[in-house]
Amino acid sequence: MKKHIVVIAGDGIGQEVTAVGKQVLDKIAAQYGHEFTYDEALIGHAAIEATGSPLPEETITKSLASDAILFGAVGHPKYDNDPTAKVRPEQGLLGIRKALGLYANLRPIKLFDELLSASSIKPEILKGADILFFRELTGDVYFGERGRKDNGDTAYDTMIYSRYEVERIAIKAFDAAMTRRKKLCSVDKANVLESSRLWREVIQEVSKRYPEVAVEHQFIDAAAMLLIKDPKRFDVVVTGNIFGDILTDEASQIAGSMGMLASASVGDTTGLYEPIHGSAHDITGMGVANPLASILSAALMLDISFGMKEEADAVVNAVDKVLKAGYRTRDIADASTPADKILNTAGMGEQVLAAL
Ligand code: NAD
Ligand code: IPM
Ligand code: MN
Repeated sequence: MKKHIVVIAGDGIGQEVTAVGKQVLDKIAAQYGHEFTYDEALIGHAAIEATGSPLPEETITKSLASDAILFGAVGHPKYDNDPTAKVRPEQGLLGIRKALGLYANLRPIKLFDELLSASSIKPEILKGADILFFRELTGDVYFGERGRKDNGDTAYDTMIYSRYEVERIAIKAFDAAMTRRKKLCSVDKANVLESSRLWREVIQEVSKRYPEVAVEHQFIDAAAMLLIKDPKRFDVVVTGNIFGDILTDEASQIAGSMGMLASASVGDTTGLYEPIHGSAHDITGMGVANPLASILSAALMLDISFGMKEEADAVVNAVDKVLKAGYRTRDIADASTPADKILNTAGMGEQVLAAL
C-alpha cells in the first residue's frame, strides 16, 4: 500500500522521539512491502522561530494532503515562564486539532506486564489494567470565549459544549465499548457545571442506543481517585477536553511513565498520532527520552488510519519483546534494572527495530 505521512516533530524531545517513530514506520514498510513517503512540517516554537507563527498555513495544507500525521510535541520554557507572551507554541497544537476537526483523542492505557514494578502503584492493583480514554479534543474551556477585563485584573475562560460535540464523541466511545468489555464511564462535574449537565444529558440519550453497554457517570474528582484506587474497574472512559487532559497524565502512572502513552486524534479529516507527553524541557537534548510512546503512536496510525492491523500488532509485539528482554529507558527503569540494560532514546529505538 502507498501512504503519504507528514512528520511534525515540533519542539524539545518531540524531535528526538519522532525520529525513532519514523524509523519504525520505515522498517514496517520495508518488511510488509508498503511504500511510505514523507514530508515534514513546522509547528510550535520551531515554527515561531522560522515563520513567526506557531502554525504556518503550509502545515495545514500539507497535513490535509497526507494520509496521516506523526506528531511529536510543542513547548518551550521561554513561554512557560512568560504569562504575557501572546504568541505561544501550544497554539500550534490546538490550532491543528481544530483546523483538522480532530475531535476525538483516543488514549489507550495498557500496562505491559514487564513494567509492573515501574509504577508507584501496587502490582496487584495494576495487573490487567486496560483502559481506553476518549478525550474530547476541540471544545471545552480550551476553545471557549476568553479574555481580560477590569484593566486586565480579571481573566476568564469559558467552559462550553454543544450537544453535537458531546454526541459525536459519545458515539465513538460507545462504539469502542461494544468491541471491548462493554463498560463505559462518563466523567464530568455535573453537580456544579452547566456544561457538564448537558454532557451528562447527551451521554444518557446516546446510551439508549447501546443497551448492552453498562454506563456509569463519575464526577471528575471521584474519577481521579478511583483511577488510582482501582484502575481495573474502568474499560472505556469518555470525558471532556480538560478533564481528559488531566486524567490521562494521571493514568500514565498506570502504564509506568509518560513516555509509554500513545494517542490517536481522529475526526473529520487526516488522523494525527502523538505521544501524550510534552516537549519535556528537563530532559531535552540529553538523548534519554523514552521513544516508546512515539513508536506506539506509529502503531496506532498503522491500525486506525491505514487499516494495517497485522503491522500494528507487530510493532506492539516488538515493544513487548524488548521490555521482556529487560531493556529500559531510565524513566521505566527501577532499582533492579542492570546498568547495561538502561538505554538511551536511540538505543531503545535500535532494540525495537531489531525485534521487529
Ligand atoms: P511533559 O509531558 O513535557 O513532561 C512531564 C514529565 O514527564 C517530565 O519530567 C518529563 O521529563 C517526563 N517525560 C515526558 N515525556 C517523557 C519521555 N518520552 N521519556 C521520559 N520522560 C518523559 O510536561 P511538562 O513538563 O508539564 O511540559 C513541558 C512542555 O511541554 C510545556 O511547554 C508544555 O506546554 C508542553 N506540553 C506539550 C504537550 C504536547 O505537545 N502534546 C503535552 C504536554 C505538555
Ligand atoms: C496534551 C497537551 C496539550 C493539551 C497542550 C500542550 C496544549 O497537554 O496534548 O495533552 O492540553 O491538550
Ligand atoms: Mn496534556
